[in-house]
Amino acid sequence: MDRFKIHGGRRLQGTVEISGAKNAALPAMAATLLTAEPVRLLNIPHVRDIITMAKLLAHMRCKVQSPDIPPSEFTIQAENVSHAEAPYELVKTMRASVLTLGPLVARFGYARVSLPGGCSIGARPIDLHIQALEKLGATTTVEHGYVEARAKRLRGATFRFPKITVTGTENILTAAVLAEGETVLENSALEPEVVDLAELLIKMGAKIEGAGTSTIRVQGVEKLHGATHTVIPDRIEAGTFLVAGAITGGEPLLTNCEPKHLAIIITKLEECGVDIRCEGPSALRVRAAKKLVAADVSTEEYPGFATDMQAQFMALATQAQGVSHIRETIFENRYLHASEMVRMGANITIDGNLAIVTGPSPLSGAPVTASDLRASAGLVLAALVADNTTWIDRVYHIDRGYEQIELKLSQVGASIERVRQAG
Ligand code: EPZ
Repeated sequence: MDRFKIHGGRRLQGTVEISGAKNAALPAMAATLLTAEPVRLLNIPHVRDIITMAKLLAHMRCKVQSPDIPPSEFTIQAENVSHAEAPYELVKTMRASVLTLGPLVARFGYARVSLPGGCSIGARPIDLHIQALEKLGATTTVEHGYVEARAKRLRGATFRFPKITVTGTENILTAAVLAEGETVLENSALEPEVVDLAELLIKMGAKIEGAGTSTIRVQGVEKLHGATHTVIPDRIEAGTFLVAGAITGGEPLLTNCEPKHLAIIITKLEECGVDIRCEGPSALRVRAAKKLVAADVSTEEYPGFATDMQAQFMALATQAQGVSHIRETIFENRYLHASEMVRMGANITIDGNLAIVTGPSPLSGAPVTASDLRASAGLVLAALVADNTTWIDRVYHIDRGYEQIELKLSQVGASIERVRQAG
């Protein structure tokens, strides 16, 4: 298992190129199951979850090709899909495999997908995906750890999500595009990744209105065709690098990002005293505050503050003057990084879903363990300002969603090294 060895205390300066969004690329890859024609996807980040999705599609007998190594572009052709199944071995390593459920049942009338089960940040059921598919006329059974869905052809219907769900919205959107008649999805997720998926589907011939609002209307079509699509930049990777600049007192330039997807993150960082400026349509310059000040955040669905940025913001809060209240409202167990930050010297107390961070606290390097993708990012940020050396274990979590983070950070001046361990 690889570890990161980080020496803190370096100011970050230089240019960081933001990769394509993992959470937009995954549903786009699943959507290729909707047509027999090739779909070309560009700006795909080279991260572990993407490789897992590529393996899953190959397991279903899709042709998955990439012109470059490491792949940043894929052409996927789901001409002959002989295994409409997402097996446990792949789903357990990446729960986004459930995104194949909607497209499989819509196009082939059958899907068998392993239930993902809980993960370190919460229970994360997929009951709403299943309820919505049933509303579209699928018969589902949950047995032996798998959900099986069958439908001769899905029928359009109105479904109101009782709770906003990102992959739930994406799964049902990719089912509804081939259903007979009109589907109306109410209380849909507004995330940019949902809008990006809708844009790809429209290029493939789908009829969708309202993506990016809470009501999405879909007129089902008989067939979709091939398309070429460039996925949006990763707003969470960009947010992580904004914090990296702010926490180290540096002034890096982020390129290939989409500032409008980062609005609330920028607002919160500005509240902490950080100066963030657009330099052109897709570049952001961070200028760290002379003194960071505390700010409160509550995680919310988009356009609110993303839960995927909570751990990184907590790292920043440890360096800010005053008391920051951080409330996690999306997942029930997303504070595993807090106890590791405390081991590095942070002053954080947890009370239910509220974390109270009092700063600034000098952090000192320590051995710490990453527990999930964004928690790992929070620990990397804390390590960048800690004195001495921090060792971060289980960095495979970070490899799931950050493309070469150690390379990107060292290019802007951080001292970070991947140490490979035998076995
Ligand atoms: C997506 O997960 C992202 N994953 C997550 O990113 C992100 O943290 C999350 O949205 C919230 O923004 C991908 O896009 C691949 P949800 P998702 O369904 O769709 C409950 C990362 O680090 N719920 O919007 O699985 C659920 O338990 C990851 O990149 C149900 O109760 O999240 C949670 O409390 C981690 N029943 C809430 O809804 C359901 O059927 C929101 O979850 C579905 C969800």
